Amino acid sequence: MPDLSVTIGGIKFKNPVMASAGEPTTDYAHMKAAIEAGAGGVVAKSVAFSPELAKSFDHARWAVVDENRKICSRGEYPKMFTFYGRGGIPLEPPDWIETLQRVQEVADKHGSVLVGSIGTGPLDKMVETAVRMERAGLRIIELDAGCPQVSQLGLSQSEMELVKSHEIAGLIAKSVIGAVSVPVIYKVAAEGHDIIETCRAVKEAGAAGATLINRYVGFLVDIESGKPHLNSMAGVGGPWVLPLTLRWVSQVYRTYPDLPIFGSNGAYDWQDVVQFLMSGASMAQFCSTLMLKGYRVITEAVQGLEEFMDRCGYSSIDEMVGLAVKNSKTYEELYAFREKARVDQELCSGCRRCLNACFYQGLEMVADDKVVITENCKGCGMCVMVCPDDAIRLSL
Ligand SMILES: Cc1cc2nc3c(=O)[nH]c(=O)nc-3n(C[C@H](O)[C@H](O)[C@H](O)COP(=O)(O)O)c2cc1C
Ligand code: SF4
Ligand code: SF4
Repeated sequence: MPDLSVTIGGIKFKNPVMASAGEPTTDYAHMKAAIEAGAGGVVAKSVAFSPELAKSFDHARWAVVDENRKICSRGEYPKMFTFYGRGGIPLEPPDWIETLQRVQEVADKHGSVLVGSIGTGPLDKMVETAVRMERAGLRIIELDAGCPQVSQLGLSQSEMELVKSHEIAGLIAKSVIGAVSVPVIYKVAAEGHDIIETCRAVKEAGAAGATLINRYVGFLVDIESGKPHLNSMAGVGGPWVLPLTLRWVSQVYRTYPDLPIFGSNGAYDWQDVVQFLMSGASMAQFCSTLMLKGYRVITEAVQGLEEFMDRCGYSSIDEMVGLAVKNSKTYEELYAFREKARVDQELCSGCRRCLNACFYQGLEMVADDKVVITENCKGCGMCVMVCPDDAIRLSL
């Protein structure tokens, strides 16, 4: 049986599948459900200190948008859904620490890890909250700098500069890390921050890992009414966003291979967990898919991952972490060889689709029905994709 466990900052996660901070971890019952579904870890809903963010949380509004850019209904949505909506981060509820303590007991019982989450705010308040979370028995803390709503809260330019600054990220991480003895991880915003620099700053500050990344801000229109969906801008994400996230995961992994990465933003199923791992993350977090499909997503992801590892002969998660990054070539290395298109005349039906798809005069039709490749072929692959008869291949 493959070993699914991952150890980060001395904390052992039984598997790399997590529920990320958000509405699916907003109270005791929901966190318990995620743990009972088999999550290796659960990040509690963040608490923060800004009345504006709390107001936005109180006016949460969510919609799922389909491939036609229309809001879904009747529980039907495509796999590549867009999760469009606004939320925020509440002020700390009066009984939050007690809630976390109760969830910690459930986590201990199931061998899962509860992560406390603190949104950015005044340093002294962040530090004080982290200290209370540690005293309550939490074994790891995530700092969240990434809420997409922050950019819409009317902060002044200088305040926004602070929110975006990697120096501030380093300072926040250092202050909290200096005040607690549990490992601290830092969740990076998708926008604003220089993500590589932020990871450097928090790594130097002693962070046990980085969570990459929070959601983007979007704007999407209902063209019949001429209004934006949900009447305004909103955070935007969904499984289609995964390549944008993995770009950063892989780049951070390449730059700082010893900084553990918690992947977030775009996970749909166990295959996406593997995508995260092979791009350099050690853990994969789920949020919006849980909101749509429920916590069985976690159970299925763990099971699918285990079966995949069994089938492919991976005995540990470590063997997969960063695999695709190690197998990735630089553009310069790619220039060293050039494939060209080759046409199998036996298969070609003369439909001419490849002629429209080639933008480099790489092929031409001769004798009205025979496609030949010219010396201009760059090996771009467009003709291969459009050929309905599978008559074109690339080769050296
Ligand atoms: C409804 C909702 C609430 C969220 N609340 C938080 C939060 O409190 N703290 C945080 O760090 N991230 C929060 N996030 C971001 C998620 O943790 C996650 O990073 C993001 O949704 C991308 O992952 P996904 O593609 O799995 O949804 C929230 C996201 C959503 C959709
Ligand atoms: S591989 Fe690209 S350049 Fe070559 S023939 Fe096909 S479409 Fe043209
Ligand atoms: S797209 Fe394929 S089948 Fe059609 S003309 Fe080109 S090679 Fe032939």
